[in-house]
Amino acid sequence: MTTVAVTFLALFLYLVAAVSGDVIKLPSQASKFFHPTENDDDSTRWAVLVAGSSGYWNYRHQADVCHAYQLLKKGGVKEENIVVFMYDDIAKNEENPRPGVIINSPNGEDVYNGVPKDYTGDDVNVDNLLAVILGNKTAVKGGSGKVVDSGPNDHIFIYYSDHGGPGVLGMPTSPYLYANDLNDVLKKKHASGTYKSLVFYLEACESGSIFEGLLPEGLNIYATTASNAVESSWGTYCPGEDPSPPSEYETCLGDLYSVAWMEDSDIHNLQTETLHQQYELVKKRTAGSGKSFGSHVMEFGDIGLSKEKLVLYMGTNPANENFTFVNENSLRPPSRVTNQRDADLVHFWDKYRKAPEGSARKVEAQKQVLEAMSHRLHVDNSILLIGKLLFGLDSPAVLNNVRPSGTPLVDDWDCLKSLVRVFEMHCGSLSQYGIKHMRSIANICNAGIQMGQMEEAAMQACPTIPASPWSSLERGFSA
Ligand SMILES: *[C@@H]1O[C@H](CO)[C@@H](O)[C@H](O)[C@H]1NC(C)=O
Ligand SMILES: *[C@@H]1O[C@H](CO)[C@@H](O)[C@H](O)[C@H]1NC(C)=O
Repeated sequence: MTTVAVTFLALFLYLVAAVSGDVIKLPSQASKFFHPTENDDDSTRWAVLVAGSSGYWNYRHQADVCHAYQLLKKGGVKEENIVVFMYDDIAKNEENPRPGVIINSPNGEDVYNGVPKDYTGDDVNVDNLLAVILGNKTAVKGGSGKVVDSGPNDHIFIYYSDHGGPGVLGMPTSPYLYANDLNDVLKKKHASGTYKSLVFYLEACESGSIFEGLLPEGLNIYATTASNAVESSWGTYCPGEDPSPPSEYETCLGDLYSVAWMEDSDIHNLQTETLHQQYELVKKRTAGSGKSFGSHVMEFGDIGLSKEKLVLYMGTNPANENFTFVNENSLRPPSRVTNQRDADLVHFWDKYRKAPEGSARKVEAQKQVLEAMSHRLHVDNSILLIGKLLFGLDSPAVLNNVRPSGTPLVDDWDCLKSLVRVFEMHCGSLSQYGIKHMRSIANICNAGIQMGQMEEAAMQACPTIPASPWSSLERGFSA
């Protein structure tokens, strides 16, 4: 066999090594009891929906966000109060088998139609997102100019779906969003007295690290994350899974935590379901079964707020008025899910597998797999080598150190950002995969390493930047 064939075989074995699980209970049944509970004060619901990625292999993040928009819209949240960030390269992507349509589940309907294009393309960036949350119209550049222009009685819902890493959330543009900057903005928003309560749902790898030790109580913010601070989150409805997307889709359609909360909200009377009930349900579904897949959904901030009803943030679809949340309901869970970080490989592999023998498409898919794999190897090896150069035999203990729970990833966020830039200057972009190493870089800061030492180590580890598109710094540094 050629090297390429061996690589493909190894990759294939790696991708099929997933496991099936038990039945997880999900609510879905109607209940006879309906208690209208909401007294509508003069508060307004606001929402910010963010898909932090681009690329067809990341289809699922924009699908999640479009679905969230439809859900809120059906719930009665006004379009003028929902701000959508999505790169918008999926619906019309040449890989999309249904042009102009995006689905978020195998039998799902189109969720793309009608979604407002507030911030698309390069306008999906950190500065705009933070300005939108703060309601600062003058700071926004490009896009629709829509911001969260909220008042003291209002309720805000923020939902973000993307790749992440310890202390960082992805963006389709550079730089990425660092946890300290996000929490600072939430504190500023609180200080401005422009909301009553705020709920943050976050899907990303290591998403617990975004709030761990950083989001204080007392800001009237309740956050849940798809994973804890040290683990991946998961894509779902991926090729080869059960349930799998329609055969013409060579990409994951959704993410496990995201789909869990949305499919729950879709079918219930949200006047009666609490944030806490949804948290418990989403936690169960996202955990998967056994130890082979799934992640730990976490909650942060003012946990007491989770007694509130979902309707305060999401509204409720009048058609669901008789569908009350009951814990006894069940829905078949996915038997397999795909690690966020491998979903690109799943796409390239499925494309390779289905392309006709000898076709240009097959050659292209093969190239894409190899580029993605070699980028991974390059980043992994570079970090390992830098660790060895800086810490010798102690390197694994230093780089992999996980601080006690409740402690933020790093003390000096400026150090983290500087070292990320130094790394990227010499070794190339971390990209969506490489941000998994953010903890190692944070630990290099925590160990008191200075810029100069890091620079020297990075220069030795990376004599050149690989030509791969994943390593390219064309888009700028991720910090
Ligand atoms: C809004 O943003 C502008 C430009 O960045 C800044 O000068 C101004 O201070 C901000 N306003 C508030 C209220 O934070
Ligand atoms: C809910 O049930 C009540 C009582 O049976 C009925 O009048 C009402 O139309 C139902 N609502 C919906 C949306 O089906």
